[in-house]
Amino acid sequence: MDVRIGLIGAGWMGKAHTYAFANALMAFGPESGKPIFELISDIDEGAAKTACQKLGFSRWTKDWKKVVTDKNVDVVDIATPNIFHYEIAKAALENGKHVYCEKPLTLSFKESKELAALAEQKGVINYVGFNNVMNPATHYIKDLISSGKLGEVMTFRGTYDQDMLLDPELPITWRHITKYSGSGALGDLGSHLLSVSQFLLGDVQSVNALSKTFIEERPAAPGSSKLVQVENEDFITIIANYKNGAVGTLSSSRVATGRKNYLFYEIQGTKGSVYYSLERLNEVNVYFTSDKSADRGYRTVFLGSDHKGYKVFNPASGIAIGFNDIKILEVHELLSAITNNTPYICDFEFGARIDQVISAVLKSAAGKMWVQVREEGAVSR
Ligand SMILES: NC(=O)c1ccc[n+]([C@@H]2O[C@H](COP(=O)([O-])OP(=O)(O)OC[C@H]3O[C@@H](n4cnc5c(N)ncnc54)[C@H](O)[C@@H]3O)[C@@H](O)[C@H]2O)c1
Repeated sequence: MDVRIGLIGAGWMGKAHTYAFANALMAFGPESGKPIFELISDIDEGAAKTACQKLGFSRWTKDWKKVVTDKNVDVVDIATPNIFHYEIAKAALENGKHVYCEKPLTLSFKESKELAALAEQKGVINYVGFNNVMNPATHYIKDLISSGKLGEVMTFRGTYDQDMLLDPELPITWRHITKYSGSGALGDLGSHLLSVSQFLLGDVQSVNALSKTFIEERPAAPGSSKLVQVENEDFITIIANYKNGAVGTLSSSRVATGRKNYLFYEIQGTKGSVYYSLERLNEVNVYFTSDKSADRGYRTVFLGSDHKGYKVFNPASGIAIGFNDIKILEVHELLSAITNNTPYICDFEFGARIDQVISAVLKSAAGKMWVQVREEGAVSR
């Protein structure tokens, strides 16, 4: 079945999504849906035109409203700054389109919840781009937990650190202005960590958080002497209680000197432990108490064809896959849901749940207090 794509936002993720759609066809074949690059939109006319040509779309427009109403578009793909997700997704759903939206779903739990309800009412596929959930390593770790190999999970300790915004000379972007982003390191990076924690351990019950902005002003434009205030956090750290009785510490920094893409976590259970870093994407480190030998200790498992999603790329273990491959697995799940009605994990209800935790964390950091996540509103399942 042809799946005609209307992409909105021709920046980093717009390109990553298109690359993933094109390669999903090659990796999985047309049975899961054949992507057709129908229409691309960017508020920047030059970006829209160039991307249309380079990425192989048939048509371009500056106006995203033309995408959500276009009769030749089946799925609206939203890769704009966060502020536009809600308005575009809502309009797309109202026009009966399937929606694929980058994370975080919206700027608030209330908006995300409303979108989740509307998507359900319209009966369309609603997918949030939490790609770390689609990582074969994440599914292997999920299996270790579900099969009882780790025993009772006691702790989840994770961080998502990058130093991408460490340089104070880097100009202000939409990521630093709360109106556009919703939050700083928390929504941008921490939401990925929360998505993995949600998938692996389930709901967070209560949080206590501390945040800090280290670089308080940035140039208005490259090289400009005019400084603009940074409105949101560079760093956040959270203590969390999970509904299942586990406890967690989660943190994120976008000014983490020396860290490039350090999504790291360790899960300790009564029978085993596992730790993982996205900078070593293909390696999962495991320890089981059943090993009584004198040389027991953590050992490294390389991802291979035994692990969900891996073997579409390579038949043998230890041949590295990367970020763009995980995006391929993500869009394949989306295409397959549209074409064959297969189940998928990161729907808008999942996205709303992450936004609920984000909202509780922001409230906790602002008020310097514990916050019950459910007080931010209820989710339906
Ligand atoms: N899943 C991931 O790993 C990941 C990684 C990076 C970014 N993201 C998310 O992807 C989204 C986009 O981030 P990015 O890094 O690609 O940003 P970006 O700045 O590289 O690109 C955004 C593009 O959207 C365009 N745009 C802005 N407003 C628009 C509008 N109203 N209509 C049409 N186009 C508009 C901009 O001109 C720009 O080309 C964000 O929500 C971000 O959180 C996810």
